[in-house]
Amino acid sequence: IWGTSTSSFQIEGAAAEGGRVPSVWDTFCRIPGKVVNGDHGDIACDHYHRYREDIALMKQLGFRYYRFSVAWPRIIPAPGVVNEEGVEFYSRLLDEVEQAGLTPMLTLFHWDLPQWLQDMGGWTNREVLEHFRLYASTLMDRFGHRISWWNTINEPYCASILGYGTGEHAPGHQNWYEAFTAAHHLLICHGIAMDLHREKGLSGQIGITLNMEHVDAASASDEDIAAAARRDGFLNRWFAEPVFHGRYPEDMIAWYGEHVRGMDFVQEGDLERIHQPGDFLGINYYARCVVKAAANDSLLQLEQIKFTEPVTDLGWEIHPDSLYKLLKHVEQNYTKGLPIFITENGAAMKDELVEGEVQDTGRQQYIHDHLAACHRFIQEGGQLKGYYVWSFLDNFEWAFGYSKRFGIIYVDYATQQRTPKQSAHWMSRVIAANALEQ
Ligand code: FCB
Repeated sequence: IWGTSTSSFQIEGAAAEGGRVPSVWDTFCRIPGKVVNGDHGDIACDHYHRYREDIALMKQLGFRYYRFSVAWPRIIPAPGVVNEEGVEFYSRLLDEVEQAGLTPMLTLFHWDLPQWLQDMGGWTNREVLEHFRLYASTLMDRFGHRISWWNTINEPYCASILGYGTGEHAPGHQNWYEAFTAAHHLLICHGIAMDLHREKGLSGQIGITLNMEHVDAASASDEDIAAAARRDGFLNRWFAEPVFHGRYPEDMIAWYGEHVRGMDFVQEGDLERIHQPGDFLGINYYARCVVKAAANDSLLQLEQIKFTEPVTDLGWEIHPDSLYKLLKHVEQNYTKGLPIFITENGAAMKDELVEGEVQDTGRQQYIHDHLAACHRFIQEGGQLKGYYVWSFLDNFEWAFGYSKRFGIIYVDYATQQRTPKQSAHWMSRVIAANALEQ
């Protein structure tokens, strides 16, 4: 399955149209210093108005699979209220997707929480669960028969840890207890979506997407190895273990200590609800992480080694072998034969449009090498079923605004003109051949 991936806030724009209300990201973008250049999502790639053109381009390039997300603030503009205009937009989008012969994967939550929910405490308030239930239930009722794959939550780590812990993402809080509470509620929403899907008897497949890293210790010292285990616990195990094993990792609960206040946000039955692996696991993979122990004031008491090359424009180390290792590890420890999808993989590069072309050789190489890592895993019997490149279009890269380009399609934000980059033409050939060119 060769696909491409986007998310609502990053591409749609039309922030105040069609009955959409503000999301936490609209608010966050207005706080000076939070987003590079003060960029925001008011227009973004104007996909709300240009979706026909965008889907046509996908089809033209030979893609058959498309992963996108729905903007919660378009569907539920106020507590208990369904906005029909928002539902209609996604219905028209799906018409286009179907006519183009594309199979959709719909992500329920890719970070654009309605601001009205944040005003009640957002992901830290347990009431978010009932609001999510109405939102997810509405989408399943309206689109249940049209969706082959449901993605429940995209990267609960980012929405909780970066949103409420480090403050790099919306809503920009810095409180670890809030972050772990938010993470727990996000995971319960995965479980709620699983329950709804079953109760409604839907035929499509459903699963969560986690951002995962392969973590290496900077040295063979006991301290560095323990630091690597903490990083793995923080980013991977805290999210994968509840979903696949129905428990939070004990070593991390002990390490967090007062920051989780005896895990008092966990109620009876929660872990059973979260413990639903579903039909597949989505993995978003970008880079590996190398850490060493450090006696600093960070939560994990470690330092991440910064690489200068080979790295992407975001400074993320390019290390395809770690994708292979991660897949092996995930299959052995979590999925055990359940299908895996790479729901995102790609690279930010300094692209330039020169005489109507973008020669993004670095991105093409990045994708090539990561596909080769996937291929190796599959050849050894690994149950990897699909690869969705991140991203179809250059778009709003969260705290980096429009300064980082991840697309295989170049977007000129002044004119909204789309230009397929060299990597897009190359992927088109890979898809047509259903094989990796050397
Ligand atoms: C992932 C996000 C996605 C995109 C990529 C680069 O963490 O899911 O929206 O920003 O990173």
